[in-house]
Amino acid sequence: LLVVLGVLAALTPLAAHDPVTTNITYAREIHAILQARCASCHSPGGPAPMSLMTYDEVRPWARGIKDQVLTRRMPKWSAAHGYGAFANDPSLTPTEMATVAAWVDGGQPRGGVAGAGSPGSPGPNGSSLPDPTVSAFRRNVRPLAIPSAATEASLGIASHWIAAWDFQPGDSLITAATFTSGDGSPIGTWVAGDGVARLPPDAGLRVVSPIRVHLQRRQPTDYESRRPARPSLLWLQPRSLMPPRRVWVEQMACGTPRTGDIATLLAVRPVLVDRGSARVWLERPGAPQIVVGWFRSVESLYARTFWLARPQELTSESRVAVDAACTMELTLASR
Ligand code: HEC
Repeated sequence: LLVVLGVLAALTPLAAHDPVTTNITYAREIHAILQARCASCHSPGGPAPMSLMTYDEVRPWARGIKDQVLTRRMPKWSAAHGYGAFANDPSLTPTEMATVAAWVDGGQPRGGVAGAGSPGSPGPNGSSLPDPTVSAFRRNVRPLAIPSAATEASLGIASHWIAAWDFQPGDSLITAATFTSGDGSPIGTWVAGDGVARLPPDAGLRVVSPIRVHLQRRQPTDYESRRPARPSLLWLQPRSLMPPRRVWVEQMACGTPRTGDIATLLAVRPVLVDRGSARVWLERPGAPQIVVGWFRSVESLYARTFWLARPQELTSESRVAVDAACTMELTLASR
């Protein structure tokens, strides 16, 4: 009997797995890390080729996940670490990176059921888990719909002030969506992985009808199963009163440093050639330079807005300097 059982065990797929040599489990540590760092793209219907939200989805990708995480290719984030600090930085901490690597090398044990990604009841977008990136105002504000196959769209609205905005791509190939007001002034750009764009509480941005939308798409990978595209949705959270501070997005040619009125720099968005790099810093007379960020090998399909962890005051004598040919979009606030 023992011999028979031994033979059966050897034939089951489990026997082919690496021996378990770690205490780290999917249920206890790994699920939470992937939920926090990868779910914004790798969830059902999200802008990545596959979901990584359950043990069964993650297991076949274990080696790839370790590789992508240790080389910092995932999550996609092109700001070099140690140069500036950003509020929307999704990068793993060194401890999280080591935890993922040790779990993969240690045989990828599943562990207890808590958070193990049991199927549960699917939510509206096919996700069985509450999506941390979904804003509360999605429930209260009616979204503007962008037709599923569109690359350009024009949306009629009543012009108003907004406090935040949010976007949901209708197609997993959409990598970026740029929004412009009817008067030509930029509103902002959503890039895969981004959550809600929320302005400071005392600030608002004026949107003017019609809003023009431009969508960018990537090529499908050979390992993804495609779903039918749905309309993309844009939510604009209105502000009822005129805000104390106005927010606007200013485009700056990178060769010519910005000099302008007093304003607070909230965010930068480098628009470079594909895989281009740029350093951005602030110069103020009589003060040391301040590094804003070093953006390396930026994929042009993922030209993201980097929200400064500490907004910087620009006086009329400050210069925003950039060491590469590009366009820099500055998100500014002022009274
Ligand atoms: C900004 C969206 C986004 C985020 C966040 C993201 N991914 Fe991805 N991931 C993608 C896309 C898109 C691809 C398809 C290949 C490409 O474009 O690089 C991909 C591909 C992958 C692949 C396959 C790579 C290959 O070529 O074999 C792995 C593994 C992966 N991601 C793991 C992760 C992990 C782990 C995280 C979180 C730590 C993560 N990703 C976060 C968008 C994302």
